[in-house]
Amino acid sequence: MADYEPGDYVEVQTKKGVFRGVLLPTSQFSDRNVVLLKLDNGYNVGIVPDQIRVLRKGTQKKKIKKSVPAPNPNLPTVSILGTGGTIASYVDYRTGAVHPALSAEDFAYAVPEIRNEANIRARLIFNILSEDMKPEYWIKIAHAIKEESERSEGIVIPHGTDTMTYTAAALSFMFPKLSVPVVLVGSQRSSDRPSSDAYINLLSAVRVAKSDLGEVAVVMHATSNDDVCHIHRGTRVRKMHTSRRDAFKSINSAPIGVVGEELKFTEEYVKKSDETVLVPSLDEKVSLIYYYPGMPVSVFERMLEGMHGAIIMGTGLGHVASDFVPAVKKAVKDGVIIGMASQCLYGQVNLNVYSTGRELKNAGVIPLGDMLPEVAYVKLMWLLGNYDEEEVKRLLPENLRGELASRRVLQ
Ligand code: DGL
Repeated sequence: MADYEPGDYVEVQTKKGVFRGVLLPTSQFSDRNVVLLKLDNGYNVGIVPDQIRVLRKGTQKKKIKKSVPAPNPNLPTVSILGTGGTIASYVDYRTGAVHPALSAEDFAYAVPEIRNEANIRARLIFNILSEDMKPEYWIKIAHAIKEESERSEGIVIPHGTDTMTYTAAALSFMFPKLSVPVVLVGSQRSSDRPSSDAYINLLSAVRVAKSDLGEVAVVMHATSNDDVCHIHRGTRVRKMHTSRRDAFKSINSAPIGVVGEELKFTEEYVKKSDETVLVPSLDEKVSLIYYYPGMPVSVFERMLEGMHGAIIMGTGLGHVASDFVPAVKKAVKDGVIIGMASQCLYGQVNLNVYSTGRELKNAGVIPLGDMLPEVAYVKLMWLLGNYDEEEVKRLLPENLRGELASRRVLQ
Protein backbone atom coordinates (compact mmCIF):
# COMPACT_ATOMS: atom_id res chain seq x y z
CA MET A 1 0.00 0.00 0.00
CA ALA A 2 1.23 3.49 -0.81
CA ASP A 3 2.50 5.46 2.21
CA TYR A 4 0.93 8.66 0.93
CA GLU A 5 -2.73 9.57 0.79
CA PRO A 6 -5.03 12.40 -0.23
CA GLY A 7 -4.45 15.43 1.95
CA ASP A 8 -0.70 14.83 2.35
CA TYR A 9 1.71 17.59 1.28
CA VAL A 10 4.09 15.86 -1.10
CA GLU A 11 7.01 16.33 -3.42
CA VAL A 12 6.58 14.56 -6.74
CA GLN A 13 9.49 13.82 -9.05
CA THR A 14 8.60 13.57 -12.73
CA LYS A 15 10.45 13.58 -16.04
CA LYS A 16 9.52 17.26 -16.35
CA GLY A 17 10.82 18.30 -12.94
CA VAL A 18 9.80 18.39 -9.28
CA PHE A 19 6.34 19.52 -8.11
CA ARG A 20 5.12 20.23 -4.60
CA GLY A 21 1.56 20.38 -3.39
CA VAL A 22 -1.35 18.68 -1.67
CA LEU A 23 -2.27 15.28 -3.04
CA LEU A 24 -5.87 15.18 -4.24
CA PRO A 25 -8.13 12.15 -4.37
CA THR A 26 -8.66 10.72 -7.85
CA SER A 27 -12.09 10.26 -9.34
CA GLN A 28 -13.71 7.87 -11.79
CA PHE A 29 -12.53 10.19 -14.57
CA SER A 30 -8.86 10.10 -13.55
CA ASP A 31 -6.17 8.22 -15.42
CA ARG A 32 -4.79 5.55 -13.08
CA ASN A 33 -1.14 6.46 -13.84
CA VAL A 34 -1.69 10.09 -12.99
CA VAL A 35 -1.71 11.76 -9.57
CA LEU A 36 -3.60 14.97 -8.94
CA LEU A 37 -1.82 17.71 -7.09
CA LYS A 38 -3.02 21.07 -5.78
CA LEU A 39 0.06 23.26 -6.28
CA ASP A 40 1.06 26.05 -3.88
CA ASN A 41 -0.26 28.60 -6.43
CA GLY A 42 -3.77 27.07 -6.16
CA TYR A 43 -3.85 25.34 -9.55
CA ASN A 44 -4.58 21.62 -9.84
CA VAL A 45 -2.32 19.55 -12.09
CA GLY A 46 -2.36 15.93 -13.19
CA ILE A 47 1.15 14.47 -13.44
CA VAL A 48 2.77 11.09 -14.03
CA PRO A 49 5.05 10.51 -11.02
CA ASP A 50 8.42 8.79 -10.93
CA GLN A 51 8.59 9.09 -7.18
CA ILE A 52 6.41 10.60 -4.43
CA ARG A 53 7.85 11.77 -1.11
CA VAL A 54 5.60 12.86 1.74
CA LEU A 55 6.81 16.17 3.22
CA ARG A 56 3.92 16.62 5.66
CA LYS A 57 1.07 14.29 6.53
CA GLY A 58 -2.47 15.63 6.09
CA THR A 59 -3.61 17.14 9.36
CA GLN A 60 -7.20 16.05 9.66
CA LYS A 61 -8.08 12.57 8.57
CA LYS A 62 -11.44 12.09 10.17
CA LYS A 63 -14.40 12.46 7.86
CA ILE A 64 -16.25 15.64 8.67
CA LYS A 65 -19.71 14.74 9.82
CA LYS A 66 -22.23 16.76 7.90
CA SER A 67 -25.80 17.36 8.84
CA VAL A 68 -28.67 19.44 7.56
CA PRO A 69 -31.02 21.27 9.87
CA ALA A 70 -34.49 19.82 10.43
CA PRO A 71 -36.91 20.84 7.65
CA ASN A 72 -38.28 24.34 8.11
CA PRO A 73 -42.08 24.22 7.61
CA ASN A 74 -42.04 27.83 6.36
CA LEU A 75 -39.71 27.04 3.46
CA PRO A 76 -40.57 25.25 0.20
CA THR A 77 -38.84 22.01 -0.72
CA VAL A 78 -36.51 22.04 -3.73
CA SER A 79 -35.07 18.87 -5.27
CA ILE A 80 -31.54 18.95 -6.63
CA LEU A 81 -30.95 16.15 -9.14
CA GLY A 82 -27.26 15.94 -10.00
CA THR A 83 -26.12 14.73 -13.42
CA GLY A 84 -22.42 15.63 -13.28
CA GLY A 85 -20.16 18.35 -14.62
CA THR A 86 -18.24 20.81 -12.51
CA ILE A 87 -21.29 22.21 -10.75
CA ALA A 88 -22.23 18.88 -9.16
CA SER A 89 -19.13 19.03 -7.02
CA TYR A 90 -18.15 20.58 -3.77
CA VAL A 91 -14.82 21.51 -2.34
CA ASP A 92 -13.30 19.64 0.53
CA TYR A 93 -11.53 22.54 2.21
CA ARG A 94 -9.18 20.13 3.96
CA THR A 95 -7.61 18.80 0.76
CA GLY A 96 -8.84 21.35 -1.77
CA ALA A 97 -10.26 18.47 -3.78
CA VAL A 98 -13.46 18.64 -5.74
CA HIS A 99 -15.87 15.80 -4.99
CA PRO A 100 -19.22 14.98 -6.53
CA ALA A 101 -22.03 16.23 -4.33
CA LEU A 102 -24.10 13.15 -3.59
CA SER A 103 -26.55 14.23 -0.97
CA ALA A 104 -28.57 17.11 0.41
CA GLU A 105 -25.86 17.50 3.04
CA ASP A 106 -23.15 17.95 0.40
CA PHE A 107 -25.11 20.70 -1.35
CA ALA A 108 -26.06 22.37 1.89
CA TYR A 109 -22.38 22.42 2.84
CA ALA A 110 -21.20 23.60 -0.56
CA VAL A 111 -23.60 26.58 -0.59
CA PRO A 112 -24.80 27.09 3.00
CA GLU A 113 -27.13 29.96 1.94
CA ILE A 114 -29.43 27.56 0.15
CA ARG A 115 -30.49 26.30 3.59
CA ASN A 116 -32.14 29.70 4.10
CA GLU A 117 -33.94 29.44 0.77
CA ALA A 118 -35.44 25.96 0.80
CA ASN A 119 -35.50 22.55 2.35
CA ILE A 120 -33.28 20.55 0.03
CA ARG A 121 -33.80 17.02 -1.23
CA ALA A 122 -30.82 15.94 -3.30
CA ARG A 123 -29.58 12.92 -5.16
CA LEU A 124 -27.29 12.12 -8.04
CA ILE A 125 -29.07 10.61 -11.08
CA PHE A 126 -25.66 9.94 -12.62
CA ASN A 127 -22.29 11.65 -12.67
CA ILE A 128 -20.98 12.25 -16.17
CA LEU A 129 -19.24 14.89 -18.23
CA SER A 130 -21.96 16.37 -20.40
CA GLU A 131 -20.12 15.55 -23.63
CA ASP A 132 -21.06 11.95 -22.73
CA MET A 133 -24.76 12.83 -22.52
CA LYS A 134 -27.15 10.75 -24.66
CA PRO A 135 -30.87 10.91 -25.51
CA GLU A 136 -31.50 7.89 -23.25
CA TYR A 137 -30.10 9.94 -20.34
CA TRP A 138 -32.45 12.83 -21.17
CA ILE A 139 -35.29 10.35 -20.73
CA LYS A 140 -33.83 9.19 -17.40
CA ILE A 141 -33.63 12.80 -16.18
CA ALA A 142 -37.22 13.40 -17.33
CA HIS A 143 -38.49 10.45 -15.29
CA ALA A 144 -36.59 11.67 -12.22
CA ILE A 145 -38.20 15.12 -12.65
CA LYS A 146 -41.66 13.60 -12.92
CA GLU A 147 -41.07 11.62 -9.70
CA GLU A 148 -39.68 14.63 -7.80
CA SER A 149 -42.46 16.92 -9.04
CA GLU A 150 -44.75 15.02 -6.70
CA ARG A 151 -42.51 15.70 -3.69
CA SER A 152 -41.17 19.20 -4.10
CA GLU A 153 -42.04 22.69 -5.28
CA GLY A 154 -39.16 23.08 -7.69
CA ILE A 155 -36.35 21.14 -9.33
CA VAL A 156 -32.73 22.10 -9.95
CA ILE A 157 -30.59 20.02 -12.33
CA PRO A 158 -26.83 20.63 -12.00
CA HIS A 159 -25.36 19.70 -15.40
CA GLY A 160 -22.08 19.98 -17.32
CA THR A 161 -22.16 23.15 -19.38
CA ASP A 162 -21.05 21.75 -22.75
CA THR A 163 -24.37 20.15 -23.70
CA MET A 164 -26.65 21.62 -21.07
CA THR A 165 -28.77 23.42 -23.68
CA TYR A 166 -29.49 20.20 -25.60
CA THR A 167 -30.81 18.70 -22.37
CA ALA A 168 -32.82 21.86 -21.64
CA ALA A 169 -34.42 21.66 -25.11
CA ALA A 170 -35.14 17.93 -24.79
CA LEU A 171 -36.82 18.42 -21.40
CA SER A 172 -38.77 21.42 -22.74
CA PHE A 173 -40.40 19.24 -25.41
CA MET A 174 -40.85 16.20 -23.16
CA PHE A 175 -42.89 18.24 -20.66
CA PRO A 176 -45.90 19.90 -22.32
CA LYS A 177 -47.04 20.82 -18.80
CA LEU A 178 -45.07 21.41 -15.61
CA SER A 179 -46.38 21.89 -12.08
CA VAL A 180 -42.86 22.90 -10.91
CA PRO A 181 -40.03 25.02 -12.30
CA VAL A 182 -37.25 22.90 -13.86
CA VAL A 183 -33.96 24.79 -13.67
CA LEU A 184 -30.73 23.62 -15.27
CA VAL A 185 -27.55 25.09 -13.88
CA GLY A 186 -23.84 24.65 -14.51
CA SER A 187 -20.53 26.27 -13.80
CA GLN A 188 -17.76 27.29 -16.12
CA ARG A 189 -15.07 27.30 -13.40
CA SER A 190 -14.75 24.60 -10.78
CA SER A 191 -15.62 25.43 -7.22
CA ASP A 192 -12.01 25.23 -6.01
CA ARG A 193 -11.06 28.29 -8.09
CA PRO A 194 -11.47 31.77 -6.68
CA SER A 195 -13.25 32.84 -9.89
CA SER A 196 -15.77 30.01 -9.67
CA ASP A 197 -19.32 30.78 -10.72
CA ALA A 198 -20.70 27.63 -9.06
CA TYR A 199 -21.83 29.32 -5.86
CA ILE A 200 -23.93 32.16 -7.34
CA ASN A 201 -25.31 29.98 -10.10
CA LEU A 202 -26.54 27.28 -7.73
CA LEU A 203 -28.01 29.73 -5.24
CA SER A 204 -29.79 31.61 -8.06
CA ALA A 205 -31.09 28.35 -9.53
CA VAL A 206 -32.64 27.43 -6.16
CA ARG A 207 -34.30 30.88 -6.03
CA VAL A 208 -35.81 30.34 -9.50
CA ALA A 209 -36.94 26.84 -8.48
CA LYS A 210 -39.08 28.51 -5.78
CA SER A 211 -40.89 30.73 -8.29
CA ASP A 212 -44.16 30.18 -10.18
CA LEU A 213 -42.32 29.31 -13.42
CA GLY A 214 -43.86 26.37 -15.31
CA GLU A 215 -41.24 25.79 -17.98
CA VAL A 216 -37.67 24.56 -18.35
CA ALA A 217 -35.02 27.25 -17.78
CA VAL A 218 -31.25 27.59 -17.71
CA VAL A 219 -29.79 29.83 -14.98
CA MET A 220 -26.21 31.06 -15.45
CA HIS A 221 -24.08 34.18 -14.80
CA ALA A 222 -25.51 37.24 -16.59
CA THR A 223 -22.22 39.17 -16.71
CA SER A 224 -18.67 38.60 -15.59
CA ASN A 225 -19.60 40.09 -12.21
CA ASP A 226 -20.64 37.81 -9.43
CA ASP A 227 -23.99 39.41 -8.70
CA VAL A 228 -26.81 38.39 -11.03
CA CYS A 229 -27.79 35.47 -13.21
CA HIS A 230 -30.01 35.39 -16.28
CA ILE A 231 -32.98 33.08 -16.53
CA HIS A 232 -33.00 31.70 -20.08
CA ARG A 233 -35.84 29.84 -21.77
CA GLY A 234 -34.76 26.20 -22.30
CA THR A 235 -35.40 26.37 -26.06
CA ARG A 236 -33.67 29.70 -26.70
CA VAL A 237 -30.32 29.44 -24.98
CA ARG A 238 -26.85 28.59 -26.24
CA LYS A 239 -23.34 28.33 -24.81
CA MET A 240 -21.49 31.06 -26.74
CA HIS A 241 -18.05 31.05 -25.13
CA THR A 242 -15.70 28.27 -24.08
CA SER A 243 -14.66 29.69 -20.74
CA ARG A 244 -16.33 32.99 -19.79
CA ARG A 245 -18.70 32.82 -16.84
CA ASP A 246 -21.35 34.73 -18.84
CA ALA A 247 -21.07 32.24 -21.72
CA PHE A 248 -24.79 31.46 -21.90
CA LYS A 249 -26.94 33.75 -24.03
CA SER A 250 -30.54 33.77 -25.15
CA ILE A 251 -30.45 33.88 -28.96
CA ASN A 252 -33.01 35.78 -31.04
CA SER A 253 -34.84 36.70 -27.83
CA ALA A 254 -34.20 38.22 -24.43
CA PRO A 255 -33.66 36.17 -21.26
CA ILE A 256 -36.99 35.67 -19.46
CA GLY A 257 -35.69 37.07 -16.19
CA VAL A 258 -32.90 38.13 -13.88
CA VAL A 259 -32.08 36.71 -10.47
CA GLY A 260 -29.79 38.08 -7.82
CA GLU A 261 -30.91 38.97 -4.31
CA GLU A 262 -34.29 39.53 -6.01
CA LEU A 263 -35.94 37.53 -8.76
CA LYS A 264 -37.59 39.42 -11.59
CA PHE A 265 -39.21 38.03 -14.72
CA THR A 266 -38.70 40.59 -17.48
CA GLU A 267 -40.44 38.77 -20.35
CA GLU A 268 -43.58 36.69 -20.67
CA TYR A 269 -43.11 33.25 -19.19
CA VAL A 270 -45.18 30.11 -18.74
CA LYS A 271 -46.69 29.80 -15.26
CA LYS A 272 -46.93 26.55 -13.29
CA SER A 273 -49.64 24.22 -14.42
CA ASP A 274 -51.62 22.13 -11.92
CA GLU A 275 -50.12 18.91 -13.31
CA THR A 276 -46.86 17.65 -14.76
CA VAL A 277 -47.30 15.80 -18.06
CA LEU A 278 -44.38 13.78 -19.41
CA VAL A 279 -44.20 12.63 -23.05
CA PRO A 280 -40.77 11.04 -23.06
CA SER A 281 -40.38 9.10 -26.35
CA LEU A 282 -37.59 10.12 -28.70
CA ASP A 283 -36.65 8.76 -32.12
CA GLU A 284 -32.85 8.85 -32.25
CA LYS A 285 -32.70 8.41 -36.00
CA VAL A 286 -32.16 12.11 -36.67
CA SER A 287 -28.98 13.74 -38.05
CA LEU A 288 -27.74 17.25 -37.44
CA ILE A 289 -25.75 18.17 -40.53
CA TYR A 290 -23.39 21.16 -40.66
CA TYR A 291 -22.96 22.08 -44.32
CA TYR A 292 -19.58 23.46 -45.43
CA PRO A 293 -18.24 24.54 -48.83
CA GLY A 294 -16.63 21.49 -50.42
CA MET A 295 -18.78 18.98 -48.51
CA PRO A 296 -19.06 15.98 -50.84
CA VAL A 297 -22.65 15.01 -51.72
CA SER A 298 -21.68 11.42 -50.78
CA VAL A 299 -20.88 12.53 -47.19
CA PHE A 300 -24.27 14.24 -46.98
CA GLU A 301 -26.00 11.12 -48.35
CA ARG A 302 -24.24 8.89 -45.81
CA MET A 303 -25.43 11.14 -42.99
CA LEU A 304 -29.01 10.59 -44.17
CA GLU A 305 -28.70 6.81 -44.50
CA GLY A 306 -31.16 4.97 -42.24
CA MET A 307 -32.41 8.26 -40.77
CA HIS A 308 -36.04 9.29 -40.31
CA GLY A 309 -35.19 12.97 -40.10
CA ALA A 310 -32.39 15.52 -40.45
CA ILE A 311 -31.76 19.13 -39.59
CA ILE A 312 -29.39 20.91 -41.94
CA MET A 313 -27.39 23.84 -40.59
CA GLY A 314 -27.26 25.70 -43.88
CA THR A 315 -25.36 28.84 -44.80
CA GLY A 316 -26.96 32.29 -44.50
CA LEU A 317 -30.70 32.25 -45.12
CA GLY A 318 -30.60 28.41 -45.29
CA HIS A 319 -28.55 27.09 -48.19
CA VAL A 320 -26.43 24.14 -49.29
CA ALA A 321 -24.65 23.75 -52.65
CA SER A 322 -27.11 23.46 -55.52
CA ASP A 323 -25.70 20.05 -56.52
CA PHE A 324 -27.15 18.70 -53.22
CA VAL A 325 -30.70 19.27 -54.45
CA PRO A 326 -31.19 15.85 -56.16
CA ALA A 327 -29.96 14.05 -52.99
CA VAL A 328 -32.33 16.15 -50.85
CA LYS A 329 -35.22 15.41 -53.24
CA LYS A 330 -34.55 11.66 -53.10
CA ALA A 331 -34.31 11.60 -49.29
CA VAL A 332 -37.59 13.52 -48.91
CA LYS A 333 -39.26 11.17 -51.43
CA ASP A 334 -38.01 8.22 -49.33
CA GLY A 335 -39.78 9.73 -46.29
CA VAL A 336 -36.91 11.52 -44.51
CA ILE A 337 -38.17 14.74 -42.90
CA ILE A 338 -35.63 17.52 -43.48
CA GLY A 339 -35.66 20.86 -41.68
CA MET A 340 -33.45 23.86 -42.45
CA ALA A 341 -31.83 25.99 -39.74
CA SER A 342 -29.03 28.51 -40.18
CA GLN A 343 -25.38 28.49 -39.15
CA CYS A 344 -25.80 32.22 -38.53
CA LEU A 345 -27.91 31.46 -35.42
CA TYR A 346 -29.21 35.03 -35.42
CA GLY A 347 -32.08 35.87 -37.77
CA GLN A 348 -34.56 33.79 -39.73
CA VAL A 349 -34.18 31.16 -42.43
CA ASN A 350 -35.76 32.33 -45.69
CA LEU A 351 -35.88 29.91 -48.62
CA ASN A 352 -37.68 32.38 -50.90
CA VAL A 353 -34.84 34.76 -51.70
CA TYR A 354 -32.26 32.82 -53.74
CA SER A 355 -32.75 30.10 -56.35
CA THR A 356 -31.02 27.41 -54.21
CA GLY A 357 -33.42 28.16 -51.36
CA ARG A 358 -36.41 27.91 -53.67
CA GLU A 359 -35.15 24.61 -55.10
CA LEU A 360 -34.66 23.19 -51.60
CA LYS A 361 -38.13 24.31 -50.63
CA ASN A 362 -39.61 22.71 -53.75
CA ALA A 363 -37.69 19.54 -52.86
CA GLY A 364 -39.62 19.45 -49.57
CA VAL A 365 -37.18 21.04 -47.08
CA ILE A 366 -39.02 22.69 -44.17
CA PRO A 367 -37.71 26.16 -43.22
CA LEU A 368 -37.40 26.61 -39.46
CA GLY A 369 -37.40 30.36 -38.93
CA ASP A 370 -35.11 31.45 -36.11
CA MET A 371 -35.16 28.11 -34.31
CA LEU A 372 -31.70 27.15 -33.01
CA PRO A 373 -30.28 24.18 -34.95
CA GLU A 374 -29.71 22.05 -31.82
CA VAL A 375 -33.21 22.80 -30.62
CA ALA A 376 -34.61 21.82 -34.01
CA TYR A 377 -32.61 18.56 -33.86
CA VAL A 378 -33.99 17.62 -30.43
CA LYS A 379 -37.50 18.73 -31.41
CA LEU A 380 -37.48 16.55 -34.52
CA MET A 381 -36.40 13.53 -32.40
CA TRP A 382 -39.26 14.21 -30.01
CA LEU A 383 -41.84 14.74 -32.77
CA LEU A 384 -40.79 11.57 -34.62
CA GLY A 385 -41.01 9.64 -31.36
CA ASN A 386 -44.60 10.69 -30.75
CA TYR A 387 -46.43 11.67 -33.97
CA ASP A 388 -47.09 10.32 -37.47
CA GLU A 389 -45.27 11.74 -40.49
CA GLU A 390 -47.87 14.31 -41.49
CA GLU A 391 -48.16 15.66 -37.94
CA VAL A 392 -44.36 15.88 -37.65
CA LYS A 393 -44.22 17.95 -40.85
CA ARG A 394 -46.99 20.20 -39.57
CA LEU A 395 -45.57 20.67 -36.05
CA LEU A 396 -41.86 21.05 -36.87
CA PRO A 397 -42.20 24.71 -38.00
CA GLU A 398 -44.82 25.54 -35.33
CA ASN A 399 -44.02 27.27 -32.06
CA LEU A 400 -44.56 24.63 -29.33
CA ARG A 401 -42.32 25.73 -26.42
CA GLY A 402 -41.19 29.24 -27.27
CA GLU A 403 -38.53 27.90 -29.66
CA LEU A 404 -39.57 30.39 -32.35
CA ALA A 405 -40.03 34.13 -32.37
CA SER A 406 -43.71 34.97 -32.39
CA ARG A 407 -43.31 36.18 -35.95
CA ARG A 408 -44.43 33.41 -38.33
CA VAL A 409 -41.90 31.15 -40.03
CA LEU A 410 -41.37 32.37 -43.60
CA GLN A 411 -42.76 29.49 -45.69
N1 DGL B 1 -16.86 19.16 -20.18
C1 DGL B 1 -17.65 19.77 -19.19
C2 DGL B 1 -19.08 19.30 -19.21
O1 DGL B 1 -19.88 19.83 -19.93
C3 DGL B 1 -17.11 19.68 -17.80
C4 DGL B 1 -17.05 21.02 -17.19
C5 DGL B 1 -18.41 21.65 -17.02
O2 DGL B 1 -19.13 21.33 -16.09
O3 DGL B 1 -18.76 22.47 -17.85
O4 DGL B 1 -19.43 18.40 -18.48
